[in-house]
Amino acid sequence: MVDSLKKPGFEEMRPGVKVPAKETILTPRFYTTDFDEMAKMDISVNEDELRAILEEFRTDYNRHHFVRSEEFNQSWDHIDGESRQLFIEFLERSCTAEFSGFLLYKELGRRLKDKNPVLAECFTLMSRDEARHAGFLNKALSDFNMSLDLGFLTKSRSYTFFKPKFIFYATYLSEKIGYWRYIKIFRHLQAHPENRIYPIFSFFENWCQDENRHGDFFDAIMKAQPSILNDWKARLWCRFFLLSVFATMYLNDLQRSDFYKALGINARDYDIDVIRETNATAGRVFPLVLNVDHPDFFRLMDEAAASYLKIVNAPASNEPKPLKTLKRLPHILSIGVKMLQLYLMKPIDTAHLEGTVR
Ligand SMILES: [Fe+2]
Ligand SMILES: [Fe+2]
Repeated sequence: MVDSLKKPGFEEMRPGVKVPAKETILTPRFYTTDFDEMAKMDISVNEDELRAILEEFRTDYNRHHFVRSEEFNQSWDHIDGESRQLFIEFLERSCTAEFSGFLLYKELGRRLKDKNPVLAECFTLMSRDEARHAGFLNKALSDFNMSLDLGFLTKSRSYTFFKPKFIFYATYLSEKIGYWRYIKIFRHLQAHPENRIYPIFSFFENWCQDENRHGDFFDAIMKAQPSILNDWKARLWCRFFLLSVFATMYLNDLQRSDFYKALGINARDYDIDVIRETNATAGRVFPLVLNVDHPDFFRLMDEAAASYLKIVNAPASNEPKPLKTLKRLPHILSIGVKMLQLYLMKPIDTAHLEGTVR
């Protein structure tokens, strides 16, 4: 009986090695960029801060943190059925996202080495952190008799090309939202230890400090390039990235609310909390943030999430693909309209706070 529960409905490429989840618009993305443009970047305006961050990275506060404790050494077969499936999905998504950071930072470290040594070393040290995070998550997957072939993932995934400034907006936000996600789960489980069903969550407190430092690095890099923050294009792009990062998380998490329920967390409340915090944090560097306190904001997000649920929960059928797509179309359109409405909502200016402590 237990065997069928151990590997709940996941395809394997080799015994114990999971076929990676299908890439969709909402799965973690792999990035590549214009390395020459990045190498030529002049960081002198904010070099002192970047050097200070580099010193922090060198200190390597979490050098001894990612060591598996005794607590892991037990059977996890009691996490079974749908919970097990959701758990594996959570670990896979997290591992893929961490690994994607590793690949990008590692490549940046390598390509910038001779031309921009301060940035290159920062990237290399961040890739060290992400490798630890991804490795730790992949090891956790093995507790559930699964793992990811990260070499295969490197070769098989498609890479999205972003110009450096878009890499900065996107990675800054993903580091900061990652920080808030980890710390909120950690604090919740600290207050409710009875819900700590697996030991990995105890590692989140120090872990999220890595993400916070990575976010601070991108904050400093953007401040070294004021041109990417202070024109009308920057304002439009910052809105776009804030919304896409928030909406991706919201739609994903509401679809997996049972995972959060297993930890005693209400997925919607958790996401709202994480979005508010990340939005406020982003106000320290972005010229504007979204008006997440406007009553329409989460109403529209909820409506988009409801349409998304209708797509993912559509009963499996043998209908031809075009027909399936046609049936999904109204929901896809509805999500598109809500996103457009959210994008057009009046943002909150933070640029006027320039030069003050934010
Ligand atoms: Fe990480
Ligand atoms: Fe990170």
